[in-house]
Amino acid sequence: MTTPLRLGIAGLGTVGVGVMRILRQKAATLEARTGRAITVSAICARSRSKDRGIPLDGYAWEDDPVALAQRDDVDVFVELMGGEDGPAKAATEAAIAAGKDVVTANKALLAHHGQALAEAAEAAGAVLRFEAAVAGGIPVIKALTEGLAGNDVTRVIGVMNGTCNYILTRMEDAGLTYDEAFAEADGLGYLEADPNLDVGGIDAGHKLALLASIAYGTRVAFDAVELEGIGKVSIDDIRAAADMGYKIKLLGVCQLTGRGLEQRMTPCLVPATSPLGQLTGGTNMVVIEGDHVGQIVLRGAGAGEGPTASAVMSDVLDIARGTRLSTFGVPATSLQAAQPARSVAPAPFYIRLLLQDKPGALAKVAAALGEAGVSIDRMRQYGHEDAGAAPVLIVTHKAAPSGLEAALDAISALAEVAGTPVALRIEQV
Ligand code: NAP
Ligand code: HSE
Repeated sequence: MTTPLRLGIAGLGTVGVGVMRILRQKAATLEARTGRAITVSAICARSRSKDRGIPLDGYAWEDDPVALAQRDDVDVFVELMGGEDGPAKAATEAAIAAGKDVVTANKALLAHHGQALAEAAEAAGAVLRFEAAVAGGIPVIKALTEGLAGNDVTRVIGVMNGTCNYILTRMEDAGLTYDEAFAEADGLGYLEADPNLDVGGIDAGHKLALLASIAYGTRVAFDAVELEGIGKVSIDDIRAAADMGYKIKLLGVCQLTGRGLEQRMTPCLVPATSPLGQLTGGTNMVVIEGDHVGQIVLRGAGAGEGPTASAVMSDVLDIARGTRLSTFGVPATSLQAAQPARSVAPAPFYIRLLLQDKPGALAKVAAALGEAGVSIDRMRQYGHEDAGAAPVLIVTHKAAPSGLEAALDAISALAEVAGTPVALRIEQV
């Protein structure tokens, strides 16, 4: 008879409780699918007395996640506490040092320490897996490391933070304020313990850096991600973009070119009718382009109890079956350090500015664009009630980012322009 796979679960919040529910509800199915019973030897959280909505009396309790990770009756340490350092890192290191396999949903930990942890795991003969860390319930790590392993990945692009997508779509669809939409996302369990990780684009940047590592066989380089959150996206831009046929998304793009590895996680416009434009709420979408497969679109819940627990279970079941893949698809010691690069590829841009409504003002803006080699595709000026500044929207033809920057500098310096113009890249997918 095969021995059971024995888990130690640290963290009994949104994701940890979800994992416990699956393990309790589907024990027979999981055993049938892997050929082994999957049991929980011990659990750990900060508060032992908190009501978590599921019975936990029958499980051994540890106050210290490191002690849990080192228990003799734990084969797999399941880290669901969060945080890039502190107990999550200490317990993961302790588990690996003790030769345990580790499953984590912690993108912050891996984005900062993934290389060292993966090398340590390999040296110890352990596996370290993190399906739940990227795009919640979408099996994107499995898709890249397994299903698409016969391809050279040419580009990965996607919406990878449910909170940001939820806030942006609720602001647009329901006319909610940023604060109202944020409160709703919080109620749905989407938010990180530090919400700035979400709205600041950092959480999504962590995820992009992890995908880039797998896609290109490069060391995780979170510090090289060009990062901007949704804090500066105004309701005016959401409405204006919609009027021009676009949606605003916090969009991640990574690609390896002859110049190096481009990684950016920034608010961008996408066509409203495109799959990414139609993505609403906490849903995530990852588009992977491979040289042989073409384009693959993965869409699903990017956060929340059930979807994230589903992804944790994918890793647990792989370990139960004896599948022992490298953390980033190839041995960690063979991952290459990539040269960070900024995108120089021409793209269309959206520009919104406030312009004094007087003769010659628009001509000066057009001249500034023309002198920087930026050509206007479409333009719209809105009426206004007083004699002040009129909102003007411009969609450019494809322009070099350097040309766009030069044009914006010149436009900002015009006496006829009020405030700072907003410019967002339009991503073609
Ligand atoms: P959460 O609801 O805040 O739960 C965190 C859990 O960790 C709590 O049970 C907490 O204990 C426990 N914990 C924190 N510090 C601890 C310590 N020092 N010792 C022992 N236990 C400790 O977080 P979550 O949303 O489940 O997220 C967990 C991980 O999954 C994070 O890495 C997160 O980024 C990742 N993730 C979450 C989602 C999502 O949708 N929520 C999606 C993908 C990935 P108490 O309950 O006693 O306070
Ligand atoms: N806070 C994250 C999000 C959870 O909103 O997408 C899933 O990683």
